[in-house]
Amino acid sequence: MEKSAKLRFDELRQIVEKHLDKYIEVLYPESIYKSMRYSMLAGGKRLRPVMAIETASLFNVPLESVIPSACAIEMLHCQSLIHDDLPCMDNDDFRRGKPSNHKVFGEAIATLAGDALLSFAPKLIINKTPKTVESEIILNVLNEFFIAAGVDGIISGQVVDLESEKKQITDETLNYLYEYKTAKLFKLAVRTGAIIGKASKQELDDLTLFAQYFGHAFQIYDDILDVTSTLEELGKTPGKDLAEQKSTYVSMHGLNDAKKQALFLCDKACDILKIHNINSEILTGIVKNISEGLEKCS
Ligand code: IPE
Ligand code: IPE
Ligand code: MG
Ligand code: MG
Ligand code: MG
Repeated sequence: MEKSAKLRFDELRQIVEKHLDKYIEVLYPESIYKSMRYSMLAGGKRLRPVMAIETASLFNVPLESVIPSACAIEMLHCQSLIHDDLPCMDNDDFRRGKPSNHKVFGEAIATLAGDALLSFAPKLIINKTPKTVESEIILNVLNEFFIAAGVDGIISGQVVDLESEKKQITDETLNYLYEYKTAKLFKLAVRTGAIIGKASKQELDDLTLFAQYFGHAFQIYDDILDVTSTLEELGKTPGKDLAEQKSTYVSMHGLNDAKKQALFLCDKACDILKIHNINSEILTGIVKNISEGLEKCS
């Protein structure tokens, strides 16, 4: 990523951190709020909220109009991670360099913290978006949120991911699970920014296609890192996909082809930005970070 893009990315990331901290206070009963805050404020790259804010800024949306929705998307992402780590799902003891939520708070509170974040998030969109954003736009943003969060999104992706363990699946099924468990959330991020920015149908479609290519590349990269990286670098347990016998691009096609495919998808994502004159150093930089990471791993 270019230096100027990196600076702006860090600036936006810090704004997101500050707002997440502010939005979730510790009230009674403390355990649930502490558990929510533990996962929300444990670090994380904050890619999705930054992408939402950056996309909105392409349409000159002021920060305060998009920040509640951007934070809501990060809450949805965190919820999916808390549940993803539970023993009944991927059974992962580490997340973002710390013990997973259920390792600290127990499975019951971790499950409830995920549920709580999922309902806290749309409430935030409704109550914290300034009145200058028309209600029709807020309804549209909420609709996108519920699509990505529910059976039309992550949930079905996670179901197919779990049902694809310990068995041979087709490339079509693999594509489905990448699309639903991962790409849908990146699509939500750019679409939210674009909708608040009153983007045209064409602009919305272009950004959605960008997020689709990027989302698939991102998940293949995550699957590669599971094989090539360490606990220190990842902040989560490596070798989990093999241990759980997950179906991934790496398990189905090998490391080399996975790397080629992810690089190809990164190129496609950049092409969309170029062809449609979407001039964003941050969006380009986020893709470049992945392609540079891919070039390095073996
Ligand atoms: C992890 O996402 C889940 C996947 C879709 C692979 P991130 O790699 O963006 O996780 P954080 O937010 O930086 O921890
Ligand atoms: C993506 O898949 C996770 C979600 C949609 C929550 P993974 O199960 O590979 O994510 P990590 O590797 O645990 O972060
Ligand atoms: Mg998983
Ligand atoms: Mg997992
Ligand atoms: Mg993974």
